[in-house]
Amino acid sequence: MKKLTFSNGDKMPILGLGTWKSKPGEVYQAVLWALEAGYRHIDCAYIYNNENEVGKALTKAFSDGLVKREELFITSKLWNDCHRKEDVKKGLLKTLNDLQLEYLDLYLIHWPISFKKGVGFAESREQFYTYSDVPLGQTWQGMQGLKSEGLVKHIGMSNFNISKLKEIIALGGDGPEMNQVEMHPYLRQEGLVEFCESNGILMTAYSPLGSGDRSSSVKKQDEPNLFEDKVIRDLAEKYQASPAQILISFSINRGIAVIPKSVNQERIKQNLAAAEINLKNEDMDQLMKIEKEYRFIDGSFFTGPQSPYRLSDLWEM
Ligand code: A2P
Repeated sequence: MKKLTFSNGDKMPILGLGTWKSKPGEVYQAVLWALEAGYRHIDCAYIYNNENEVGKALTKAFSDGLVKREELFITSKLWNDCHRKEDVKKGLLKTLNDLQLEYLDLYLIHWPISFKKGVGFAESREQFYTYSDVPLGQTWQGMQGLKSEGLVKHIGMSNFNISKLKEIIALGGDGPEMNQVEMHPYLRQEGLVEFCESNGILMTAYSPLGSGDRSSSVKKQDEPNLFEDKVIRDLAEKYQASPAQILISFSINRGIAVIPKSVNQERIKQNLAAAEINLKNEDMDQLMKIEKEYRFIDGSFFTGPQSPYRLSDLWEM
């Protein structure tokens, strides 16, 4: 499998298992199936509410001799309520404890949005958040501290736009190494990809399959379905693959890491096999030219009437 390389030479397998929306009771088995199938990269986050179960699966895999810690690439993300410098380490230690690990390969600031301590994720659009006003620079200094302590090997962010990345880069010191954002043929993020490339920031595509299993309370009506797109379906037929595999190989062919979520053994294997599909240039061109644009995770749940944030703070619009 292709790997992405950090500036110090460390490598990250370009395909990983996503665990957002994988329920406790499902994710333990999903992680073990993935490791047995050959996945070596798992994407986690505190707010997915399942890290302790992922940790049990990792511990089982280590004790069974299925994999060694150093063969794995494990990512997690700092939740919005731990943005104060003194809370950044607390957030990481909770995650390390749940995952039963001594270090992470990659730790990301989950959102450029700061909450009061103890505020999790709302279950519906009607539930309000309580916000805080911690400057992102403070959070980044906390992240740099974790890296220099050796608790995390690489640091970065998720859901950051170009202007926020510039803000962080301007602080100096260890810079961002990864930006994980929603990416698929309906949201190709070309400007952001170019900016990250020219600033030595690797990228990861989340929701590469459109995250159709999101709770209906946060979904908009009439969302498009990537699996039903004509171009994607035709390519699936051409390569004797599934639409999901075309979507995964689309990202890999762009040199962008991708983390499809599945808790189904067959689909976990199928998604891994997509790493071997080489899409021809003309087929990549077709995918890069699809006119439809859609952001499934638009961040509007963070922009209610009581919020200081607007969508225009999140994305270049
Ligand atoms: P399941 O977990 O039952 O396999 P995303 O990674 O964009 O968040 O998308 C995850 C959704 O896509 C889940 O509903 C997951 O269901 C489904 N999924 C994962 N892999 C495949 C696949 N190969 N074919 C169809 N659906 C898939």
